[in-house]
Amino acid sequence: MSKQKLNKRVPLQEKLEKNVFALVLAIAMIVSVGGIVEIVPLFYLKTTFEDINHPEFEELKGVRPYTALELAGRDIYQREGCYLCHSQMIRPFRDEKDRYGHYSLAVESKYDHPFQWGSKRTGPDLARVGGKYSDAWHRQHLRAPRSVVPESVMPNYVWLDGAHIDGVGMEKRVKAMRVLGVPYSDEDIKGAAASVEGKTEMDAMVAYLQMLGTMIKFEPGRDYRD
Ligand code: HEC
Repeated sequence: MSKQKLNKRVPLQEKLEKNVFALVLAIAMIVSVGGIVEIVPLFYLKTTFEDINHPEFEELKGVRPYTALELAGRDIYQREGCYLCHSQMIRPFRDEKDRYGHYSLAVESKYDHPFQWGSKRTGPDLARVGGKYSDAWHRQHLRAPRSVVPESVMPNYVWLDGAHIDGVGMEKRVKAMRVLGVPYSDEDIKGAAASVEGKTEMDAMVAYLQMLGTMIKFEPGRDYRD
């Protein structure tokens, strides 16, 4: 190798690409700066969450913590992996609005830990499925989807009818939600076991599905991003 070549200045990029530690450090620095720039403003922007105290948006106050039975249904929803095929997030696009209803608002999932937005849609979005069908339809659909929708690829959830909700466990789960910031009262926690007594997993799942998207009574023409 000639002397001249050895003295050639090595560009920064080449230096980084040849030193794995420097490269990892540089990536971490860039990602942190990018992350901070994207995430920190969300804590200060008024539009991150819709303003539930806005005098004109009374209907947003309809968002409440889940009942113990709905919460049990939500846990089963996660256990069974329903989120792998169903999103719960209606995007603010016209086709979504025409199919599913008002786009999802942040306040609607403020008591969700973890939220169920998702993006995978093998089946339809469920954010506003509450009230769309009867309880009996849901039961039949969960037991044997193809008996009501012949072309469905959804699995059968036959065991939900036979399994009962564990009341003591439910009390603990409501308590855990309170630790995460959901405003459950002491009565809610004490009453959790009694309110799910004798209920099956099917009852809980249907209660959860029928509640989805029903807490806010949307008024046409409202824009909550103001
Ligand atoms: C393998 C993917 C898959 C999984 C897992 C799945 N689904 Fe579905 N689901 C579908 C498909 C596809 C449809 C549309 C056809 C139909 O109605 O069965 C559907 C439809 C639905 C509907 C009717 C929605 C509407 O607006 O018509 C509900 C409610 C539903 N699923 C609930 C659930 C629940 C609850 C679970 C978990 C226990 C679940 N799904 C798991 C694929 C899935």
